[in-house]
Amino acid sequence: MAYEVIRNAMVYFSPTGSVRAIARSISQGVAINPREFDLTLPSVRERKVTLEDAEFVLLAFPVYGGRLPAIMRAYISQLPRGKRPVAAVVVYGNVGFGDALLELYDLCVSRDFDVVAAAAFIGEHAYSSVLGSKRPNEADKERARVFGVGIRQALFTDGNIVRSILSKGSGATSKPPQLPSQITFMLRPRSCESCRNCVYSCPVSAFINNDPANIDYDKCIGCGACIKLCPHKARVYMDDDFLDDVAWMVANNQDPKQPAIYLPPNLPEYFR
Ligand SMILES: Cc1cc2nc3c(=O)[nH]c(=O)nc-3n(C[C@H](O)[C@H](O)[C@H](O)COP(=O)(O)O)c2cc1C
Ligand code: SF4
Ligand code: SF4
Repeated sequence: MAYEVIRNAMVYFSPTGSVRAIARSISQGVAINPREFDLTLPSVRERKVTLEDAEFVLLAFPVYGGRLPAIMRAYISQLPRGKRPVAAVVVYGNVGFGDALLELYDLCVSRDFDVVAAAAFIGEHAYSSVLGSKRPNEADKERARVFGVGIRQALFTDGNIVRSILSKGSGATSKPPQLPSQITFMLRPRSCESCRNCVYSCPVSAFINNDPANIDYDKCIGCGACIKLCPHKARVYMDDDFLDDVAWMVANNQDPKQPAIYLPPNLPEYFR
């Protein structure tokens, strides 16, 4: 059974921008009337995502601790249930994607979606400019675009992917996320130009009274956006254990990883 698709909803969360870049490249390849639901900022998440009939949905999220970000897990669980074709995509920082793709697949199935394609791409790590440095690069984006063309083929033929092909080497979804226990930041007042880029890019409104120096750590999800997106490099991480963990990750994940692409078996090898 082929799908009669006339629109493409891109639903994504992207505090530091890699997921957004990959999602847009994939949608370029799909080339079916795209509309974007960028769930990064809280004001957007207040509105419910409405999905039309005959709409292909691209779901794309970053990997946090080998799983999906907790706030996205909750969000996906409320998407309108119904039989519709989706592609499940995660982007990770060259360490590993753990169970994130399996988790996304399972959430899709719980909403009655048909998973026609899945992939894990690489983006620069939110905590480092060395891990996955400057990715997605042009080659990653081209890979994502070709994957999008493959999705388009999958929509017009007959193909879903089965969960078991995703399971290779990534275990069960029961593992808890492995996240840093606590991340704290310091503002270097002499470097800060009070532009409030950090405040307005925070996906959980964690800055108290919009003050760049004052974070509610109970709200902060440690996404790294306020540090990465500061144009004056005025923010730094403080916690020694956390910095040691990042140094260990950098030392042990030097080799650039390649995207993992999952498409129905009846599609030509070219798309993989
Ligand atoms: C809290 C947190 C946990 C992360 N965990 C992982 C991980 O388990 N494996 C990995 O390779 N990258 C990990 N990363 C890196 C992100 O997956 C990567 O930077 C991704 O590109 C972020 O997407 P974005 O740029 O759209 O925000 C983590 C980043 C954060 C902020
Ligand atoms: S983004 Fe950087 S320079 Fe701008 S207010 Fe925040 S810390 Fe200051
Ligand atoms: S305060 Fe926390 S949640 Fe907000 S942007 Fe910074 S790291 Fe992300």
